[in-house]
Amino acid sequence: MDRPTNMVILTGAGISAESGLRTFRAEDGLWEDHRVEDVATPQAFRRDPELVQRFYDERRKNIMAAEPNPAHEALARLDREWDGELLIVTQNIDDLHERAGARRVLHMHGEALSVWCLACDARHRWTGTLRDAPGCPACGEGALRPDIVWFGEMPYEMDRIFAALARTDLFVSIGTSGAVYPAAGFVQQAKSAGAIALELNLERSQGSAWFDETRLGPASEQVPAWVGEMLR
Ligand code: APR
Repeated sequence: MDRPTNMVILTGAGISAESGLRTFRAEDGLWEDHRVEDVATPQAFRRDPELVQRFYDERRKNIMAAEPNPAHEALARLDREWDGELLIVTQNIDDLHERAGARRVLHMHGEALSVWCLACDARHRWTGTLRDAPGCPACGEGALRPDIVWFGEMPYEMDRIFAALARTDLFVSIGTSGAVYPAAGFVQQAKSAGAIALELNLERSQGSAWFDETRLGPASEQVPAWVGEMLR
């Protein structure tokens, strides 16, 4: 392949697995212990806000205790050193890309360390709990929810993502099962705009057939090796 100029990198829970954060669909995954409908939908939040807040309080705590791994660090290096366009679109709600030093990151499913006030619409960085219904730092109302995109809600910044996919020469998917749309469809979007598609994942995913190449193995090994090739 000619050397690409622009790239879009999609990351999923697999890139943070070796930092100790559980993925969703593995046998020991988060959706084994919790039904999506109970904790990750707007209906669940209306029905049982305390259960939903506890679930995300736990996610926030685990994320703050985790550290970036060599895969996050390699992408941060690529971000620093790549002169062309680059966008890391993550489905992850953790901040490990940023803590590794990456800047061109877009959180399409929101962020665990951000809260959104349903009373005044403000967003704030948040490292504490929400189950005790604390007041919003801006308006004082006890109407804070996790700033997370739940099932049935629209992912953030889709216009920016589709514009980047339309321009990209290379689309790379890292550590995602390809089970959740719209992210699962990005490979098709990028390919139909003429991009080459590469998948780095522990095992073959639902979307593997769409990719020009799939490399199997842990992200902490595959991602630094691939970044090394790109920056050679
Ligand atoms: N290295 C690379 N890939 C890994 C590793 C690892 N160490 N460990 C696991 N994986 C792979 C798994 O093989 C799987 O294909 O990561 C993928 C994780 O898949 P999911 O658990 O389905 O996570 P993800 O694709 O990010 O889920 C998408 O679903 O529930 C929602 O909103 C949630 O953002 C999430 C979305």
